[in-house]
Amino acid sequence: MGNLAIILFLCSMAIVQGIDESPPSVEQWFQTRGQKKEIVTKLHFYFRDTVSGKNPTARKVAQPNTTPPSPTSFGAVFIIDDPLTVGPEPNSPIIGRAQGIYAAAGLQEVDLLLTLNYVFTSGQFNGSTLSILGRNPIFNTYRELPIVGGSGVFRLARGIATAKTYSLNAATGDAIVEYNVIVLHYQ
Ligand SMILES: *[C@@H]1O[C@H](CO)[C@@H](O)[C@H](O)[C@H]1NC(C)=O
Repeated sequence: MGNLAIILFLCSMAIVQGIDESPPSVEQWFQTRGQKKEIVTKLHFYFRDTVSGKNPTARKVAQPNTTPPSPTSFGAVFIIDDPLTVGPEPNSPIIGRAQGIYAAAGLQEVDLLLTLNYVFTSGQFNGSTLSILGRNPIFNTYRELPIVGGSGVFRLARGIATAKTYSLNAATGDAIVEYNVIVLHYQ
């Protein structure tokens, strides 16, 4: 591949579903955001967190020696790349991934600190992301998680994700979580 071909290849990688992510284009988008319409998008999907078996999508990467005796697993840190699916069934179509970290940050109850990105891989949001930073007390029926930003069609997004456990296998720790997301972003 010649230099020009490499440059063209790199340029094509900067386009997310027709959105130019080069710095001049991002600046142009940013400077004109006041003229753009703010819109609300609602999303609904399932998050499949698999910690057991041959192909876990969530891996414990660290814990202090006080985690095993802790009733809340305080101190355990996981890295995840969990599929996001349309429905709760195992063969349901994948629309994206949840990539990031969750950590057991509660001494008194099982509270996870979530810092992760939803990375969408299909449809009109393909290539765009939403960033979550929030507290997830997993035994509450609903957990409200702030959406603090995004990329692609979700530039400067803010919103709310609501998590509700669909199923939890107490023996393995594998879980399926239903997510409702409401997000404000620009058209
Ligand atoms: C999503 O975008 C990538 C990169 O542009 C492309 O290769 C892929 O086919 C797209 N997937 C879908 C399901 O549209």
